[in-house]
Amino acid sequence: MTGYYDREAVRYDATRGGRPRARAAATALAGLLGPPSGPVLDLAGGTGSVAAELTAAGHRVLVLDGSAGMLRLAAQRIPGRVVRGSLAALPVRTGSVSAVVAVWVLHLLPPELVAATMAEVARCLAPGGRFVSTVDKRAANHGTPRDPDATDCRDTVTRLAVHNGLTRYADGGFAGHGQRTDAGATPWYPLLCLGR
Ligand SMILES: C[S@@+](CC[C@H](N)C(=O)[O-])C[C@H]1O[C@@H](n2cnc3c(N)ncnc32)[C@H](O)[C@@H]1O
Repeated sequence: MTGYYDREAVRYDATRGGRPRARAAATALAGLLGPPSGPVLDLAGGTGSVAAELTAAGHRVLVLDGSAGMLRLAAQRIPGRVVRGSLAALPVRTGSVSAVVAVWVLHLLPPELVAATMAEVARCLAPGGRFVSTVDKRAANHGTPRDPDATDCRDTVTRLAVHNGLTRYADGGFAGHGQRTDAGATPWYPLLCLGR
């Protein structure tokens, strides 16, 4: 999967809505996170386009990704704030981050990695911290009903989060500028926010 993104990195921003999409996502995330406080971990943050917008809004963001190609671009946007690593073993101390965000990530992962990632998210979050993730991404892409078998299905992510001690906090979403559903509309990407 990350080999694909190594190759895709050079055209990623131009084909995924560029800055308008990143800004819409960051604005929605920031609304759910509340005012900047402690560190924010951007899981599989890719080229850092969303992280750069959150940084501009005052958040201190660290981008983690498995793709060296994607991270090269992220490092140009937020130098010194990128790390290559595994979602199943996040390189941060227990209870040390105020928030974890995951945009367009969980739908790509096998179920066992989503479960491991959710356990790691819960471990890393400080008390009062928040986790915000896109859910039901492919259904949003296509403008179709959500798929209960998708690994980013809202109910599945909520169940895993609750299993790891998080609680449902709020919902949100953002417009996928530069993307089109099968019917030609701009997709709306739902966000799920959980609290520690
Ligand atoms: C669709 S991109 C989303 C990037 C970014 N969050 C955004 O919204 O632009 C998915 C990202 O997940 C990363 N990724 C996929 N599987 C991963 C894994 N197992 N560990 C770490 N990163 C992974 C890819 O390298 C890629 O950067």
